[in-house]
Amino acid sequence: MSYEVKNEQLRKWVEEVAALCQPASIYWCDGSQEEYDRLCTQLVESGTFRKLNQEKRPNSYLAWSDPSDVARVEDRTFICSLTKQDAGPTNNWVQPKEMKKTLTGLFKGCMRGRTMYVIPFSMGPLGSPIAKIGVEISDSPYVAVNMKIMTRMGKKVVDVLGDGEFVPCLHSVGAPLEPGQKDVPWPCNKEKYIVHFPEERAIWSFGSGYGGNALLGKKCLALRIASKQGKDEGWLAEHMLILGVESPTGEKTYVGGAFPSACGKTNFAMLIPPKPIQDKGWKVTTLGDDIAWIKPGPDGQVYAINPEYGYFGVAPGTNTKTNPNAMASCSKNTIFTNVALTPDGDVWWEGMSDELPAKLTDWQGQEWTPGCGRNAAHPNSRFTAPASQCPSIDPDWENPKGVPMSAFIFGGRRKDTVPLVYQAFNWNFGVYLAATLGSETTAAAVGATGNVRRDPFAMLPFCGYHMADYFGHWLQFGRSVPKPPRIFSVNWFRKDANGKFIWPGYGDNMRVLKWIVERVQGKAAAVESPLGWMPRYEDMDWEGLDMTREKFNELTSVDRDVWQNELIAHDELFVKIYDRLPKEFLHMRELITSSLWRSPEHWEQINPFVEGYND
Ligand code: OXD
Ligand code: MN
Repeated sequence: MSYEVKNEQLRKWVEEVAALCQPASIYWCDGSQEEYDRLCTQLVESGTFRKLNQEKRPNSYLAWSDPSDVARVEDRTFICSLTKQDAGPTNNWVQPKEMKKTLTGLFKGCMRGRTMYVIPFSMGPLGSPIAKIGVEISDSPYVAVNMKIMTRMGKKVVDVLGDGEFVPCLHSVGAPLEPGQKDVPWPCNKEKYIVHFPEERAIWSFGSGYGGNALLGKKCLALRIASKQGKDEGWLAEHMLILGVESPTGEKTYVGGAFPSACGKTNFAMLIPPKPIQDKGWKVTTLGDDIAWIKPGPDGQVYAINPEYGYFGVAPGTNTKTNPNAMASCSKNTIFTNVALTPDGDVWWEGMSDELPAKLTDWQGQEWTPGCGRNAAHPNSRFTAPASQCPSIDPDWENPKGVPMSAFIFGGRRKDTVPLVYQAFNWNFGVYLAATLGSETTAAAVGATGNVRRDPFAMLPFCGYHMADYFGHWLQFGRSVPKPPRIFSVNWFRKDANGKFIWPGYGDNMRVLKWIVERVQGKAAAVESPLGWMPRYEDMDWEGLDMTREKFNELTSVDRDVWQNELIAHDELFVKIYDRLPKEFLHMRELITSSLWRSPEHWEQINPFVEGYND
C-alpha cells in the first residue's frame, strides 16, 4: 500500500478479494499523473495500447478490443435484488445467494498472474454531499487508466472516505495467466456476468473489458445502483445529459435530456447554435453528456449534478461540423477504443471526414482501403476524454450543489410517428411520454439494430429495480417538489418517404431547444394537440435554415391511425409490468385516445397538426 488507508472495511474487503482471486500482486491506485503515464506505458509494452502521434494527438492512446467484447451485454446483466418481483420483468434476475455462489466460483483464482488494481473513485465532486464513493477492484490496467479520466480517482478519495461507506465494485476480465503463458492484448472471457446487488449496493462484473461493462462507476454504480438508492431516498439517477442555455437577456436555463444509447446525447450536450441564433445572444454550455443525479433543493426547485468526470463518447459520426466541441475534447489526453489508425499514427472513424483516407489499419488490425467493404472503426468505438477539455464546459459543472433544472427532454430514434417536439400538458403526462419512449436499437448494445423497442426514460438497460416502481417514483417525485421541471418530447430522426432524414439535427436542434427554453420562460406560443403543446411554424426561429411550412408539417404531423397503433404498442410494456403499473397511466392513455378521436372540426379549430380525419 503506497498510502495510508484508515477504512478497515475497505482493507478487509481488499484482503478477501485477493484471497479469492489470487492475483500476483496488489496495487493501490493513487490517481497521480505519474501513475497514469506509467500504466499507459505498461499498456503500450503489453500490446493493449498504441501511443498515437504526439504532435497530432498529444498523450493519447488507441486500444483495440477482442472482436467479441465491443458493447454492453444486456442479456448478461443482472439485477439480483432479494426478490424477483423487485427486479421486475425487464431485468434479468437470479437469487442473490445463488448468483454469489456462481460468481465466487468464477472469481476463484481469476486474477492469477495479474496485478489487482484497487481504484478508489468518487462519482460527483469530491467531498460533495451528493457525491458517492466507490472502490473498484480490477485486474485490468485499461480500466484503471480509463477510471482516472471518467471519475475523480485515487488517494484523495480514500482520504475523503475516512471510515465512511463505499460501494464495492469487483471486476475481472476473467482471464488468469498461467506461468509461461503469453498474455493477449485484450484479455476477456467468453462467459460474462455484469451483476448488481441493489440492497447490498454491490457490483460484481466478470469477463468483459468493455467500458460499459467494466468501468463500474458509470452504468453500474451511477445508474443501476444509484437509481435504487434514489428510490429509497427520494431522488433520481437518470440517463441524461445536462446542458445550460444562456438567452439574450443573460438568463441561464438548465435542461436535462434523456435519449437511448448512441442517439446523440454527446452531440446535443455540446451543441453549438447556428450563427444567426448565436448572433442574437444564445449560447449553450455543457455539464454532462450521459448521467444526471437529480435532487430536490431547499428552494423548491430541482437540482442536478453530473457524477462523471469525463466523456465516454461514441466516435463514429463525430466531426468538426457535427460536434466541434467533442473533437476538441478528444484532441489530447484521450484513450480511443476500436477506432482506426492512420499511417501517420492518428485516429480515424466513419464520418470523421468527408474524404476517405487512402489507407488505414482498421479496428481489428487489418489493412483497410475505401471500398474494402468493412468498417474502419467499430460502430460503437469510443473516446474517453476529460470533461474539462470541452470548450463549452459550464463554469458550474463541478458545483457540488448542482444546477437548477427547468426542463427535461426525452427523445428516441423514430423514423415516423413521433413529432419533432411537443410539451407534455403536465408532470404526469410527461412521465407517461417518457415511460412510453420508443427507439430503434443501436450498436451500443449487443444485438440486432434498427428495431423499435420501448426504452422508458432511456433507462431500460439501466434501472436497478422494477420499472413500474420507477414510474411510480417519478410520479411521486413530481408531487413532492413545488417547482418541477417542464417535460418535453423530441424526435430528431423522422424520415421522409424516400428514407431521408427530414430534420437537419446537430446545431439546428438549437431551434427546438430555443422554443423549449422560451416555453419555460413563458415567452413562446404553442397550440394544443392530442399529445401535448406543440409549436406552430411561426413559433420557432428559422433564421438561416431553409425550412418550409410543408416540411415543418411533415415533421410535426400526428397521424391519428398511426398513433392509435402507437398507443396499442405502449401496451406491450404495460402488460409486462401490469401488477405494479401506476393506475394513472391507464387513465392518461384513455385521455390521449379520446383526444385523438375527437371530431375533425375540434382539431381544425385548434390547430393544423392532426391529420387523417377525412379517411
Ligand atoms: C453509454 C451507453 O456508453 O449508453 O453511454 O451505452
Ligand atoms: Mn449512455
